[in-house]
Amino acid sequence: MQVLDPLLSPARFEWGCATSSFQIEGASRADGKVPSIWDTFCAQPGRILDAGNGDVACEHYHRVAEDVQLIADLGFKHYRFSIAWPRITKTDNSLNMAGVDFYKRLLDALDKHQITPNATLFHWDLPAHLEGGWLNRDTAHRFADYAELVARHLGDRLPRVATLNEPWCSAFLGHDLGVFAPGGQSRAESLVAAHHLMLAHGLGMQAWRAVHANTSLGIVLNPELCDPATDRPEDVAAARLAELERNDGFLNPLFGREWPQELLQQIGELGHMRREGDLAICAQPLDFMGLNYYTRSIAQAPVGGRDAERGYRFVAPQAPKRLTAIGWEIYPEGLTRVVQNLQAQWPLPPLWITENGAADNTGVAHNAVNDGMRCDYLEAHFEQVAHLIRSGADIRGYYVWSLMDNFEWAHGYSQRFGIVHVDFQTQKRTPKRSALMLQRLLRG
Ligand code: FCB
Repeated sequence: MQVLDPLLSPARFEWGCATSSFQIEGASRADGKVPSIWDTFCAQPGRILDAGNGDVACEHYHRVAEDVQLIADLGFKHYRFSIAWPRITKTDNSLNMAGVDFYKRLLDALDKHQITPNATLFHWDLPAHLEGGWLNRDTAHRFADYAELVARHLGDRLPRVATLNEPWCSAFLGHDLGVFAPGGQSRAESLVAAHHLMLAHGLGMQAWRAVHANTSLGIVLNPELCDPATDRPEDVAAARLAELERNDGFLNPLFGREWPQELLQQIGELGHMRREGDLAICAQPLDFMGLNYYTRSIAQAPVGGRDAERGYRFVAPQAPKRLTAIGWEIYPEGLTRVVQNLQAQWPLPPLWITENGAADNTGVAHNAVNDGMRCDYLEAHFEQVAHLIRSGADIRGYYVWSLMDNFEWAHGYSQRFGIVHVDFQTQKRTPKRSALMLQRLLRG
C-alpha cells in the first residue's frame, strides 16, 4: 500500500496503537500494586502455554518514557492503554496514590509528544481480593468506586474513557471455557458474570459522569460473526446461538433490551441474580463504542458434553483458509459484515476500531523484522474500514493491536502481536516492517 485512502487521512481520521496494562507493564509488585486474578491464574501450573506471567512483561512500568517516545517516532497521535485497577486500589479498596502517579507519568509523556490518551478502565486484571470476582454483584459496585477514583485523580486529563474491554472474554473465556482467569467452567455462572460486568459498566458510567460530565464515555466490545459450518439447519441454529451469546448478550443491555430467551434459559435458576432495574443501569447513554476485530468463528451443532449446554461448538478453520500464527482465520470482509450486522440491529453511537492486528511471529534478522503477513493483514483491514465509511458507517478511528509484542494471555509470550518486536531477554525494541509501513502511511 503506497498511500492511505483519503477517507483515512490522519487529518480527518484517528490513528492509534493499543496495549493493555497486564500485558505490558510488568512491575507486578511495585509501589503497592496488589495481585490481580491474572497474577494468581498465571501461578497455577498448566494455565499458560509457556508458563509465562506478567511479572516483567515489557517492563513498560519502568520504560514508559522510552515507549511513548517510540509511539511518537512511529507517527501516532493517539494511544489506547488500560489502567490497572490493582495499582489504583489497595486491598481495603482505598486509593493507592503511587499507582495513580505511574499513570500521571504516562500522561505527562503523552502530553509532551501531543499524543491523545484513550483509556480503558478494565482490561481483565481484576483485583484478586474481590471475593467471588464477577460472580459477586458487589464487584460491580466496587468497579463504580474504582471508576470514581480514577475520575477524581486522572479524569481531567482523560478525554475518552472506555469502561470495559471485551466483557465477553471475562465472562465466557473466564467462567465457561475456563481458559482465562479465573478458570471457571459453568455455563450459568458465565452468564451471571456477563450480567455483573454489564452492571459494572452502567454503574461505572454513572459514577464517572457524577465527577466529570463531559468525558466521552463508552465501552469496547468484540462482537463476532459466527458462520455455520454447513447449511444444515442444526448448524445454522448453532451459529445463531453463538452469535446471540457474543453479541446480543452485551449489546442488548447497552440499549435497555432484555436478553434473548435462549440466554435466559441457560442462566436458569441463577436468573434471580439479575434484578429489577438492572437493565436501566446498563443502558447509560453511550458517547462511543469501541470494536475489536480479528477474525470470524465457524460454529456447528454440538455433539455432546459441555458444548451441549452452550448449544454450539466452534470448529477450527481448515486449509485452504489463510491463518495467522495463532491459528485465527484471516477474514477481512468479516469486519464489514460485523459492523453492518450490528448497525442493522442496534442504534450504534460513533464507532472506533479499538483493536485489530495479527499474530506474526517473524523474528529479528539483521536488525529488522520482515513481518510481511502482518503488513498484508493490516492493509486488507484498512481497506475494509475505508469501505465501511464509504458505505455510511460512522467510524472515527483505528487502533492497531499492538504497539509491541507482549503477554498474550493463555498463550503467554508465544504469540507476537506487536508492530514493534520485543526481545524479552534484553527488552530491546525493534520496529518491524509493519511499524515502518504505518509510519510511512501516517506521514502521507
Ligand atoms: C483481544 C484482547 C487483547 C489481545 C488481543 C490479541 O481479545 O483484547 O488484549 O490479547 O485479543
